[in-house]
Amino acid sequence: MDAELRQIEAETLGEIEAARGDREALQALQVRVLGRKGLLTQRLRAIALLPPEKRPEAGREANRVKERLLAAFAAALRACEEAAPASGRLDVTLPGRMEPRGRLHPITRVTEEICAIFSRMGFERVEGPEVETDYYNFEALNIPKNHPARDMQDTFFVSADVVLRTHTSPLQVRTMERRRPPVRVIAPGRVFRRDSDQTHTPMFHQVEGLWVDEGVSFGDLKGTLTAFVQRMFDEETRLRFRPSFFPFTEPSAEVDILCVICRGAGCRVCKGTGWLEILGSGMVHPAVFENVGYDPARVSGFAFGLGVERVAMLKYGIDDLRRFFENDLRFLSQF
Ligand code: PHE
Repeated sequence: MDAELRQIEAETLGEIEAARGDREALQALQVRVLGRKGLLTQRLRAIALLPPEKRPEAGREANRVKERLLAAFAAALRACEEAAPASGRLDVTLPGRMEPRGRLHPITRVTEEICAIFSRMGFERVEGPEVETDYYNFEALNIPKNHPARDMQDTFFVSADVVLRTHTSPLQVRTMERRRPPVRVIAPGRVFRRDSDQTHTPMFHQVEGLWVDEGVSFGDLKGTLTAFVQRMFDEETRLRFRPSFFPFTEPSAEVDILCVICRGAGCRVCKGTGWLEILGSGMVHPAVFENVGYDPARVSGFAFGLGVERVAMLKYGIDDLRRFFENDLRFLSQF
């Protein structure tokens, strides 16, 4: 009897060890040994058939083996549980699931940064409508109907006289109509043009700047924009002013900055030229002053329109404009 019990004990312990990590095998083994018709259970029943004087001794030994095996099964099953908790059970040791956190879109961040830099230079932030009248978008900016300059900005018309603004320059007019000089404002916003390819999207963002006072010169324009570029990028970022044309400024200049990717050596982003255009600018045209009731003989001023996507691409080294509008969270969550 004793020898048989010890054999069951040893074999079962060996099998538990072999089935380590396998919950189902362990449970089957437990039934086979300790179940109602199990090996050990049958041994326990057989004790009743022994001569009375041998029963206590045999009973003690059988119970010892039973306890030992129960403990071994319990430990092995607990180990399974720890390695792979049954689904639906609460494992308080798991880390909590975080709610995803929102972030500011890179365009929003760059817009805020641009406005903050100008705000420190004394520019006040203003905003205006995205759906604009022909008058503010074109006419008051010295772009008459049928003027060829309208071709520069392929326009979305809402009706014959109402458009989606093609630039933020209507804010120049709206601001000057309401205020007397000195005027120093910055106006961020969405603009719309019928344009869609690798480097153009039908909606993009600009920041308009306007400074009007007595004696504002082209030197102020250069100084202000140079200070801006060096704060936005770094002190090493050089810029160049290229003569250009806008009906609402005279003279006009487009501003390029030394390519922040290749530092002028020429690369894919600057198309080998070493320079990148970031804004249009110029001295406010006398005709625009007259349209808002300012006296061009007394005041002068400069204006500029900055492309926000352009600045964001350079700031973050992004080479495809469309990334900004695909709303791929893997892209957006980097900012
Ligand atoms: N509005 C012009 C554009 O969208 C940029 C500009 C703004 C030029 C202000 C001169 C002065 O291209």
